[in-house]
Amino acid sequence: MGESRTIGVFGAGWVGLVTGGCFAELGHRVIVRDVVPERVAALEAGLMPFHEPELQEVLARNRERIRYTLDAHELADADVLFVCVQTPPTYSGDADLSFVWTALDDLPRTERRQLLVMKSTVPVGTGEKVRAALEARGLTHVGYVSNPEFLAEGNAVRDFLHPDRIVVGAFDERDGTAIEELYANIDAPVVRTDIASAEMIKLAANAFLSTRISFINEIANVCELVGADVEQVAKGVGLDHRLGPHFFRAGVGWGGSCFGKDVSALKQLAGNSGYHFQLLAAVIEVNELQKRRVIAKLEKHLGRLRGKTIAVLGLAFKPNTDDLRDAPSLVIGSRLLAEGALVRTWDPVADARDRLRGATQCSTLLEAVTGADAAVVVTEWDDLRGLASEEVRAAMARPLIIDGRNLLDPGETRRAGFAYEGIGRPSSQFETLPETAEPERKVSS
Ligand code: UGA
Repeated sequence: MGESRTIGVFGAGWVGLVTGGCFAELGHRVIVRDVVPERVAALEAGLMPFHEPELQEVLARNRERIRYTLDAHELADADVLFVCVQTPPTYSGDADLSFVWTALDDLPRTERRQLLVMKSTVPVGTGEKVRAALEARGLTHVGYVSNPEFLAEGNAVRDFLHPDRIVVGAFDERDGTAIEELYANIDAPVVRTDIASAEMIKLAANAFLSTRISFINEIANVCELVGADVEQVAKGVGLDHRLGPHFFRAGVGWGGSCFGKDVSALKQLAGNSGYHFQLLAAVIEVNELQKRRVIAKLEKHLGRLRGKTIAVLGLAFKPNTDDLRDAPSLVIGSRLLAEGALVRTWDPVADARDRLRGATQCSTLLEAVTGADAAVVVTEWDDLRGLASEEVRAAMARPLIIDGRNLLDPGETRRAGFAYEGIGRPSSQFETLPETAEPERKVSS
């Protein structure tokens, strides 16, 4: 059993609450500080500001060990201070560190030695800058450690308590050891590094995961041209133990608040240091184009999309979250609207009404597909597995499904009377129903 410590957390956002809740679960006392009064009040009342499985239970179970506050002075009691604030991209693609600097401004003034630990994803070199800032403020007794998070939305509590690895970068070995001890009850390899390497591990991991997805998406695009099936290809390739099966699902591209931000931050970081990271430039571009390929697939069957009704099914950037940040659905929906299509959307939790103005958000799946010339699966929600039903077929104006996540079985879907197009799967050009077979000519302007 590791020793129980008092842990302060800057930021009651998604990373901060998962970190605070899970450290309390491990037996530590936790003080979570946020600057938004409504958020602190809601958390004190047991209300969650967002949807994350298991988190509410973890926070409730450890209630007596967690305190929420607006007052940074209360963090003076903490042995360790985790920085869990957001680091959004700036116009230049660099990371905006203003919330990190605000956390530094709010550091409690105390004589005891405290450790400041960076959980937020930051550019390589941030640790050096923070140390310089601490020294400039006469806070030389505050230690600094980089301990990046590898939490995926929808699975964050599990990812925290059962991680593949724990990365601890430190200027001073003893500080690194103190942070390693906080995780004593977790069974996972600990990677001890210098600060810059810990910062780079996080960015490189996200960049490589994105690269795998863009790679399999390009393989899917070639599969479509040569008549291969990317699902079979990914399985056959992924069984090579040197490659592995994970993050190898072709689709409409990656989204979310992390990949786009981190890949572009790493590319920018390299550029600022004089290196052109060509591979990442391609990874980003492939992803942008991938989201838009749905439009061409629709046009193949429907001709011009002006005046056609398209159901966009699934809005969240992935299932089990209501997060719309960088969601492919927003690009697909906006492109459809720009083409003059009538867009009907459905998602079990995400609400895109203020982001897709002009689209109709429907409360049921059946409502969304009613009168539609095509249905596009954008997020692989479980509710969509039964999409190829008699009821849906009868409700649609034309029985066309574009499966942007390869969620459905092509054979079953076609047998159920639908024209079906997946991503990187043999095309249905010889199997389309008469009403979807003859595209109108596109009028060139
Ligand atoms: C990602 C990483 O997986 C976490 O390890 C990391 O800690 C987190 O970013 C972060 O930096 O905070 P997250 O963005 O929550 O987590 O979501 P993922 O599950 O990684 O999915 C990202 C996107 O990739 C989704 O749009 C998903 O649909 C897409 N994806 C994923 C694919 O298109 N194909 C795949 O095979 C896997």
